[in-house]
Amino acid sequence: MRRVRLEREDDFDGWREAARALATAGVPAEEVGWQAGDGGDLFGAGPAPLPPPSAPAFAVPRAFLTLAETAICHSDPERFALLYALLLRLRGQPRAMEDAADPLIQRLERMAKAVRRDIHKMHAFVRFREVPDAGGNRYVAWFEPEHHIVRAASGFFARRFANMRWSILTPRASVHWDGATLMEGPGAVRADAPEGDPIEEVWKTYYASIFNPARLKIGAMLKEMPKRYWKNMPETALVGELVAGAQAREARMVEVSRGQIGGNARAAWEAVRAEAKGCTRCPLYRHGTQTVFGEGPLAARIMFVGEQPGDQEDLAGRPFVGPAGQLFDRALNDAGVDRAETYVTNAVKHFKFEQRGKRRIHAKPDAGEIDACRWWIEQERILIRPPLTVALGATAARSLFGKAVTVSKLRGQPHQLDGGEAWVTVHPSFLLRVRDDKEGEYARFVEDLRRIGARARAIARG
Ligand code: URA
Repeated sequence: MRRVRLEREDDFDGWREAARALATAGVPAEEVGWQAGDGGDLFGAGPAPLPPPSAPAFAVPRAFLTLAETAICHSDPERFALLYALLLRLRGQPRAMEDAADPLIQRLERMAKAVRRDIHKMHAFVRFREVPDAGGNRYVAWFEPEHHIVRAASGFFARRFANMRWSILTPRASVHWDGATLMEGPGAVRADAPEGDPIEEVWKTYYASIFNPARLKIGAMLKEMPKRYWKNMPETALVGELVAGAQAREARMVEVSRGQIGGNARAAWEAVRAEAKGCTRCPLYRHGTQTVFGEGPLAARIMFVGEQPGDQEDLAGRPFVGPAGQLFDRALNDAGVDRAETYVTNAVKHFKFEQRGKRRIHAKPDAGEIDACRWWIEQERILIRPPLTVALGATAARSLFGKAVTVSKLRGQPHQLDGGEAWVTVHPSFLLRVRDDKEGEYARFVEDLRRIGARARAIARG
């Protein structure tokens, strides 16, 4: 048996180096024992040196590395061996990753999914408490992850809370930010982290204002916010109260949705928009002039989602005001839909472009940028609850459905989307570009908008 000792539980680089050497030397999976961290020596005699390669190195698909990098953070001790078994298989069958029904790939995909979910939970549920220390104030949070995700999740906090000094303590590891550098430390216990303090009030107010009684589904709430996290989150102290008052609040919401939307939702929307101004979730903020947030009535029945602001939108700070916006306005008008009654936003809220001389040429946002920006569109959808959400083009559709889809396949019919309907049509800039049958394409777009308008009126009539 060959023994491999990895430095840490999430030591992807160490695993990769060892796995590559073992695989090129042809060592079978059952002859390798993996151990991570410094939790005692399972191997007694200690790990053996890696074998010299006996065959040329081989390339693996990018999809495998992406999967391995994430799955390695799972807490299942078998993950290293499973990944190694898959690596060996790829050596003989380079296309093995394409077999989505393969049980080994499925198991590793489930692990990667659990890891991503844990990272998402940490991003969403960490709550800092302010503690005075020698350097002024430090913000300290306690979190209990299920997997070895602290390192993978902490860059987000460094970007988001770049100007604060903070520490996140977890049972497995701690991570500290001094305003410039991320440092790692040993695990901690709950008692090391402080209890509640005044910044909890901010979260409570925010949570109470976005809490939507009409959408109250306890099962879904538990799924999104598992009980095990509740004890660390100040706003969950409000959950019982809010659930108890849900009926009364729902009645009030029906009232306000007939007239003007209530002050709470407006305040929450403004808070989210103000927060989005400082968004650094992806690198696009470095080049755009400003975040271009959505606009329109919060009681809108239709939310239109475009791709990203263009040159003029970036300068004006408003969506769809440039050439594509003007064509969109004309089509809405021809379809009998009043833009002033709709909410218009974009999947990506910063302008992505390439500078060519003095011109800024539109560049398509990539999947990472779309996914990073989904946070904001989700906040807008939580606050507005549009019965109809319309994706204008493939980027918007990817953002709404969370995966790449084909516009022509989904076009023209409603799709379920969190209790509402999603519709998909082309992006107005497609109509500016298209050469063949320009008029016919425009007419089809207007027809889509007309049907969407009719559907919104039918829903409003009940
Ligand atoms: N294209 C879009 O997708 N959105 C805008 O706001 C402008 C152009």
